[in-house]
Amino acid sequence: MHCLTLIQPDDWHLHLRDGAALATVVSASARCFARAIIMPNLKPPITTVAEALAYRQRIIASIPLTSSFNPLMTLYLTENTTVSEIKTAKESEYLTAVKYYPAGATTHSEYGVTDLRQVWSVLEAMQTYDLPLLIHGEVTATSIDVFDREKMFIEYVLDPLIENFPALRIVLEHITTQEAVEYVSAMSSARLAATITAHHLLMNRNDLLAGGIHPHHYCLPLLKRETHRQALLKAATSGHPKFFLGTDSAPHARVAKESPCGCAGIYTAPAALEFYAEAFEQVHALDKLEAFASFHGADFYGLPRNNKTITLIKRPWQMPNEFEFGEQRVVPMRAGTNIHWQLAQTL
Ligand code: DOR
Ligand code: ZN
Repeated sequence: MHCLTLIQPDDWHLHLRDGAALATVVSASARCFARAIIMPNLKPPITTVAEALAYRQRIIASIPLTSSFNPLMTLYLTENTTVSEIKTAKESEYLTAVKYYPAGATTHSEYGVTDLRQVWSVLEAMQTYDLPLLIHGEVTATSIDVFDREKMFIEYVLDPLIENFPALRIVLEHITTQEAVEYVSAMSSARLAATITAHHLLMNRNDLLAGGIHPHHYCLPLLKRETHRQALLKAATSGHPKFFLGTDSAPHARVAKESPCGCAGIYTAPAALEFYAEAFEQVHALDKLEAFASFHGADFYGLPRNNKTITLIKRPWQMPNEFEFGEQRVVPMRAGTNIHWQLAQTL
């Protein structure tokens, strides 16, 4: 198959940053996706509806005029989030969900939640108002091996959360393990779903650590062993509506990645959909890409499916070595190498 036409996809997990950096990365997502859920882990984080709406305006101002890209905003859950802010969020047409970062789990998560009991009433309000909770699912205890943090989170945090809030809609973001695939698949109710990134579908931990350390492949949750990658590929291509596209494209300046303590995040937006096509093609499942990329997420969030189409062509092109990133530079995934699929037209 050399040509693949799909209903326009959405990105259900995206980092756009702010300021000069925002202006240089937003077009990479707007060239392809109709909508994206925008992560709130700015510095300082987006904790109120007013801040989210102001951030949305800055995003809109950075979108190329030819694009109708629609940023769907989120609130960053802290131990100071109030029930009334949740109500205000529900009433705003631009707020889609609330993001839960366990404190210390990842980039800019220091304002996150140390103990879910501190946000119990907020979770009850989210359940009442039917505002979805998006979860970075990793425990943070230093005693837990970094490769086991997602598995432990499911057992010790997610499972009790699901028991205690039977109607709360939850997305377990960027899943990386067979255990996560099994847990999400086993839940018969549609209230639990998961996003899967392109980088976790295409790479395993050898890509991070074999033959030298590869800072541009460092992300959280970490890349895992090949058996987990295979489980993710199986889930993404299963046609199961609980699994959908969320790139977690997370740009950082080259200097911040290539440093003695490099930060987590992989910049995939310049070829995000093309990377997913490559992964699906590996397992002869290109026919499953449209549902994963364009239907399941919209259905979970109760939003209309898009109606425009886009076309991918099997035609190699070279990914630049780096892109502008505010006053700095950012290195994309697969910098300087051939990408197999190309978007046929810009929208
Ligand atoms: O790799 C990651 N980068 N994982 C996250 O959870 C956060 C993200 C970021 O903001 O850079
Ligand atoms: Zn993320």
